[in-house]
Amino acid sequence: MDNILLSARDLSVRFGGVLAVNQVSFDVRRGEVFTLIGPNGAGKTTVFNLISRIYTPTTGSISYTGPQGQVLLTQQAPHTVAGLGIARTFQNIELFEHASVLHNLLIGRHTRRETGLWSDMLFTSRVRSAEMRARHKAEEVIEFLDLQHYRDTLVAGLPYGVRKVVELGRALCTEPELLLLDEPSSGLNTEETDDMAFWIQDIRQDLGITVLMVEHDMSLVSKVSDRVLAMNQGEVVALGTPQEVQAHPRVIEAYLGSIDDVSNLRRPAGSAPARTAA
Ligand SMILES: Nc1ncnc2c1ncn2[C@@H]1O[C@H](COP(=O)(O)OP(=O)(O)O)[C@@H](O)[C@H]1O
Ligand SMILES: [Mg+2]
Repeated sequence: MDNILLSARDLSVRFGGVLAVNQVSFDVRRGEVFTLIGPNGAGKTTVFNLISRIYTPTTGSISYTGPQGQVLLTQQAPHTVAGLGIARTFQNIELFEHASVLHNLLIGRHTRRETGLWSDMLFTSRVRSAEMRARHKAEEVIEFLDLQHYRDTLVAGLPYGVRKVVELGRALCTEPELLLLDEPSSGLNTEETDDMAFWIQDIRQDLGITVLMVEHDMSLVSKVSDRVLAMNQGEVVALGTPQEVQAHPRVIEAYLGSIDDVSNLRRPAGSAPARTAA
């Protein structure tokens, strides 16, 4: 269908004796915020790793209808995923600590290389214009995410909450069509989580980027998600609006049966980030 950006069909992944993902199917519509929830170990990050081609499914497939038309994502080489218009952030931030915010954004942009090594070395006008576009985009993202104040600061010197925003910025610099966010609120305090909700809404509304996220914080999930898919033990247990899914008996049962406590994932303002399990 025309409005489907990504379609997962009958995905399964087995790690030794563990069926981490079991016959999972879902469609992500163009322009929506689609959220995966579920207790720890449900298989959410594994689904992300299937989409970003870190893993290959044991069975099933993922199709993606990006700027180049429809492709079977599950048959693409991992390094081509960014070029297809898919960007991601990680559950634990991955940035270059000893580079400035601006440099981290420019590095992010390099996943979308438009020129080859030889032309880079010869520094042709095509490289110069690609470089100009990258700089322009990075400045645009800095403005969009209100990072002007931190532009030239080394990442190592930034508060945790700001680093999360920088990581988001790095993903945006690749000008994705689909943005994968793995637990955007993890380690954030209440106020920072509220800010994150605004960024996600702006990314969807102002930039028109489709967002697929994994998130524990149900207030954030309810605020920004159009649809929610609940997983437990590798399987889909419910799909619907945030309200429908939160009220679903199988979802309540899944959470009651786990030691997952959302409030434990938060840290009080000013303290070191909480460590959360993968
Ligand atoms: N690389 C791996 N090797 C072995 N087992 C894994 C691997 N990645 C995930 N798992 C297992 O798969 C299950 C789902 O994990 P994960 O997708 O990380 O869950 P979630 O993100 O929902 O907390 C867990 O039982 C986990 O231990
Ligand atoms: Mg996870």
